[in-house]
Amino acid sequence: MGKLSQKDLLTIHELTLNDVNLIFDKATELKEKHKKREPHEELRGRTVATFYEKPSLRTRVSFEAGVAQLGGHALYIKAIPGWKYSDTHLKEGIPDLARVLSRYVDAIVARVYEHEKLVEMSRYASIPVINALSDLTHPCQGLADLFTIKEHKGKLKGLKIAYVGDGGSNMGHTTLLGAVKVGMNIAMACPENPKYRPSEKIMEWAKVDAEKSGATIEITNNPEEAVKEADIIYTDVWVSMGMEAEAKERLQAFQGYQVNMNLVQKANEDVKVMHCLPRTEHEISNDVVESPYSIIFDQAENRMHVQKAILTLLID
Ligand code: CP
Ligand code: NVA
Repeated sequence: MGKLSQKDLLTIHELTLNDVNLIFDKATELKEKHKKREPHEELRGRTVATFYEKPSLRTRVSFEAGVAQLGGHALYIKAIPGWKYSDTHLKEGIPDLARVLSRYVDAIVARVYEHEKLVEMSRYASIPVINALSDLTHPCQGLADLFTIKEHKGKLKGLKIAYVGDGGSNMGHTTLLGAVKVGMNIAMACPENPKYRPSEKIMEWAKVDAEKSGATIEITNNPEEAVKEADIIYTDVWVSMGMEAEAKERLQAFQGYQVNMNLVQKANEDVKVMHCLPRTEHEISNDVVESPYSIIFDQAENRMHVQKAILTLLID
C-alpha cells in the first residue's frame, strides 16, 4: 500500500485528516518543483489508466499532464455507455475490467455515473482506484478546492464556507464532506426539495466528521442567510452531467440561487468565490467570475498539483 491510510481515493470521508495534510504537503512540494521546472519524475516507468463514462476537460488534461510531469504515462479510455465509438464498455463487468487493468497498470482513475461502480472496482482491483467524479462525489476536485482555500486564506479550520445551489450534486456533497473533514463551518443554501439537498448517507458521514473536527453544518433555503459572514462562496451547475432531461425543472427550482454581485457583497468583504467549472450564467454571473473575488482558475490549476500528490502517495 502507498503512504495514505487507504488503498483508494473514493470519497474525502474515507480519508483521515492526516491523509489530507499529507496530500497538501506533497502538492505544495510538487507545485513548487513544477513552477521552478525542477524534475520530479516520481512515477517514471509507471502507467495510469484513466477511464471516462462522461466528458471532461480539467480532469482529463490535469491527470494526463500531471502523470507526464511525473515521468509516467496516462492512458485515456473512453467508456461512454451505449456510444459505439467508445474504446471500451462495461458489458464485460467491472470485476473483470478491474482485475485485467491491475495486471497492466499501476492505478485506475475513473469517472462514472454510479458511485457503486467505483466501490466494485476498488474491491476487485489490486491497484489504487481514484474517483475522477461520480454522481455521488468528486474528491479530487474537493481536495484541490481545500488546498486552494488554504493558499488564499492561510488556514481552513474555523473559516465559513457558503455553498449556494444544488446541494444534492456531487459538488454539493463534496464541498460538505471536505469542509467538515478540515473543520470549516458550512452553510448550504438549497431549495427545500430533498433531491436538491445532501443525501441522507452524505449527511450521516458529514455529521461523523463534523463531530470530530468541530465544524458546524447549517442548511437553509435562503442564499443571503447562508453567505452572511462567509469567507468562501461556492457554487456548481444546476444541471449536472446526466441530468439533462431534468433541465427545465431544475432551472425553475433554482431561481433566486444565482451567485451574483448582489449576493457576494452580502458576505465578508474579503470573501472568495469558487466554482469547479464548467460553469453557466445560470448559477454564477460572469462579472463575479471575472472579479477579484474569484479564485476559480486557481482551483482549476490546483487540480493538477493535488492529483499528482494523490498519485505519488497512493502508488507504491
Ligand atoms: N471540474 C471538473 O472536473 O471539470 P471536468 O468535467 O472538465 O473534468
Ligand atoms: N456537478 C457537475 C460537476 C462537474 C465537474 C457535474 O457532475 O456535471
